[in-house]
Amino acid sequence: MEQEQRTQTNSQSATLSPFSLDGKLALITGGGSGIGFDIARCMVQAGGTVVITGRREQPLQEAVATLGDRAHYMVNDVTDRPLLDDLVERIEAIYGPIDTLVNNAGINMKKPALEVTDEDFDRIVHTNLNSVFSLTRACAKRMMARQSGSIIMISSMAAYYGIDRVAAYAASKSGVEGMVKVLASEFSGNGVRVNAIAPGFIETAMSKTAMGGDPDRFARAMRRTPMGKFGQPEDIGWAAVFLASEAAKYITGASLPVDGGNSIGF
Ligand code: NAI
Repeated sequence: MEQEQRTQTNSQSATLSPFSLDGKLALITGGGSGIGFDIARCMVQAGGTVVITGRREQPLQEAVATLGDRAHYMVNDVTDRPLLDDLVERIEAIYGPIDTLVNNAGINMKKPALEVTDEDFDRIVHTNLNSVFSLTRACAKRMMARQSGSIIMISSMAAYYGIDRVAAYAASKSGVEGMVKVLASEFSGNGVRVNAIAPGFIETAMSKTAMGGDPDRFARAMRRTPMGKFGQPEDIGWAAVFLASEAAKYITGASLPVDGGNSIGF
């Protein structure tokens, strides 16, 4: 029996790399630009099929045209929580079962805590945490029924240590980190793995806004990054490919820093 299983596994690995996403479908929120776009690009390159979402159709159309035949889009604002169940149902009806959910869409805001209004705080938490829960629930109930799935949250260094002037953002990403552990303990017995990727400082529109006109903040970020440079969106993309693949089949409840050492730098 054991021998039979081993032979089967060997013959599978002869045809398919454990890192391949061949035959797997991923839903990536906010996939039209920045990190989300590169997650989609890396997943397509690894053999997968992707559905990216975002609020505006034109950037999504352009992204899909660049990504090729195995990329599709749906216009969707993740903060429209009552629509998320329907989104998942439509995607599965058209493209088949979702194997991987990447909760990438997110917003940031840099303001001293005393200037953050309740509306500011709610807006950030609503996008980065509440909507992530609703979409995850919609996908997870279908994944659990199929006994298979991988859910990836995009967290942040703001959930690891104290970065000034991002109180709401840090609260939202810390909530996501907590949720990863709880959901992993609830879902993993049913074949659904839940993990986070915690990007360090990655070159995108969001980090340019956060660092723009703030050379002191930029210098502080680089000083505690042993690799001494910003990461590229594809660095997050390849980590997502790994977590979505069979190569990561025993990894759940983890938060993987992809940060050039920023989280451990002195
Ligand atoms: P970005 O601003 O370049 O891209 C964010 C994407 O999310 C955009 O495509 C945007 O349209 C989409 N989005 C925002 N609100 C949405 C909504 N309500 N519905 C649907 N889509 C929405 O930012 P970036 O840098 O690519 O960030 C991606 C993720 O990575 C975010 O969750 C962010 O918090 C996280 N992150 C980024 C870091 C960086 O250094 N760039 C560092 C740590 C975390």
